[in-house]
Amino acid sequence: MGKEKVGLVALLIIVSSWCVSSSSYHSSSSSSFRGDLSRGKAPLTFGSASSSLVLNQVGSSVVFPLHGNVFPTGSYNTTLFIGQPPKPYFLDPDTGSDLTWLQCDAPCVQCTQTPHPLYRPTTDLVICRDPICASLHSGDYRCDHPEQCDYEVEYADGGSSLGVLVKDVVSFKSYRKGRVLSPRVALGCGYDQIPGPSNPFLDGVLGLGKGRSSIVSQLSSQGLVANVLGHCLSTHGGGFLFFGDDLYDSSRITWTPMSRDYSKHYSPGTAELLYAGKPTGQKNMFLVFDSGSSYTYFSSQAYQALSSDVKKELSRKPFTEALDDPTLPLCWRGKKPFKNIRDVTKHFKPFALSFNSGGRTKTQFEVLPESYLIISSKGNVCMGVLNGTQAGLQNMNVIGDISMQDKMVIYDNERQLLGWESKDCSRPPKSRAFAA
Ligand SMILES: *[C@@H]1O[C@H](CO)[C@@H](O)[C@H](O)[C@H]1NC(C)=O
Ligand SMILES: *[C@@H]1O[C@H](CO)[C@@H](O)[C@H](O)[C@H]1NC(C)=O
Repeated sequence: MGKEKVGLVALLIIVSSWCVSSSSYHSSSSSSFRGDLSRGKAPLTFGSASSSLVLNQVGSSVVFPLHGNVFPTGSYNTTLFIGQPPKPYFLDPDTGSDLTWLQCDAPCVQCTQTPHPLYRPTTDLVICRDPICASLHSGDYRCDHPEQCDYEVEYADGGSSLGVLVKDVVSFKSYRKGRVLSPRVALGCGYDQIPGPSNPFLDGVLGLGKGRSSIVSQLSSQGLVANVLGHCLSTHGGGFLFFGDDLYDSSRITWTPMSRDYSKHYSPGTAELLYAGKPTGQKNMFLVFDSGSSYTYFSSQAYQALSSDVKKELSRKPFTEALDDPTLPLCWRGKKPFKNIRDVTKHFKPFALSFNSGGRTKTQFEVLPESYLIISSKGNVCMGVLNGTQAGLQNMNVIGDISMQDKMVIYDNERQLLGWESKDCSRPPKSRAFAA
């Protein structure tokens, strides 16, 4: 059976208030880290690349191949090379949260199984008053240990990571020039993780959110790439992730402004839901784009509207609800088992989310049947849009991986725009993103 990953949207607001209110818990865990570092187990490393040398790299994108799928794997991962010498780590690319962190031997209080040996941190600590540290906490945070930056991130699926920020070298090749870049970035050494229910077998999370700690915004502030990222997920599995703004033709992209009201997440603001081109009566849906979520989540009312439209559509067709299929809440069986999503797409209609793009212009994010349905292992077709209210997302509607398939989705933090374009994502631009 497949795994379902509820959004990786970080609930940083909750996290920050914990940092203030439960300081005893917080400082006790941070002192365990201090103790370890003072024993000097981890080697000190010094940066090899100074940012001033590579300022001319702006505009040169970096491309990372993605592995995984929505179903049955339930997550994607990309390889990041970290440390000196560079070692590979499999990370979950998450546009719903900012911080990149690795399960870490600090030593680890609580780690889940990892595909690689636990990350050994450098002793190069980010100090508590560093702006990157500040960006992970709410306004008036305490610095009980001024020489280190404690963090805690909690995700919408209940998983969390607690640790300390270190600086280390990440290595990759720029896409066009093929040059190896080795900037130093701040990342989390996570020594106490509570796994979410799906818990993919990975080394950590690649934080791609809007905040200052996000890896793209760190690379951008060093002049290495524009503060733009995007991904292209294929319905055949895999795809690619990129940093920088020179892999697409901006004039072919549908752009809509990021909402200023929801500044923590990549949100186009509120949308109206259309099914088969017609209004469903669902308006003002607050939406977030979240690559850390495998499925799409609508709050109860919109979920109800969409599922009843889909059911109505199917009532005239040879489909019956497969109540015995536990894969997802809504599955249907046909006359004979389906092998491929393309066996069923003609029976379903697309839905769309319509945004106000300023003034009277509207943009539409269209979701074809192959981007909201999966074929279960029993050969039934199941709806990959789930009840977000049930998942604890309250009024947040999350566009997850399933609905971003076969599109290049772009998060332009320079211009505060979100963009998309239909694309065959199974053929990535020829990648030279691996470090040697
Ligand atoms: C992560 O990607 C690697 C290939 O780089 C693959 O071998 C591995 O199975 C993937 N892990 C998961 C959990 O998808
Ligand atoms: C969605 O979940 C909520 C909370 O569990 C529940 O009250 C509601 O009835 C569900 N909506 C639908 C349409 O199933």
